[in-house]
Amino acid sequence: MIGRLNHVAIVVPDLEAAAALYRDTLGATVSTPLALPEHGVTTVFVELPNTKVELLEPLGDDSAVSGFLKKNPAGGMHHVCYEVNDIEQAKLDLEKAGARVLGDGNPKIGAHGKQVLFLHPKDFCGTLVELEQV
Ligand code: CO
Repeated sequence: MIGRLNHVAIVVPDLEAAAALYRDTLGATVSTPLALPEHGVTTVFVELPNTKVELLEPLGDDSAVSGFLKKNPAGGMHHVCYEVNDIEQAKLDLEKAGARVLGDGNPKIGAHGKQVLFLHPKDFCGTLVELEQV
């Protein structure tokens, strides 16, 4: 079902500092910050040869990642995103297997303009899993 690792998302308290760390200390190519108000985050993309790392900073008061940052003030890994070819079929197969899809259970348009859904961390080894249709 799952294909490539599309990205790993890390929530950070200070996006500028995190971007500088990846750019200057780790020598990676980083994007300029991109505000995504409808997702409640500002993002910086770290481009790696085989995948991406997304640095996420909360944007606005009701950001979905604010609670995460309260529990993890220094930041931390938030989710992994795997690619799938058919997100509707993946959803059906996963629900049949007993996995819980977060929200209303239907795929939404994610931060990259593609259909995504999130799976309950308790069903996947304690890790929030995003599926993205490619
Ligand atoms: Co993501």
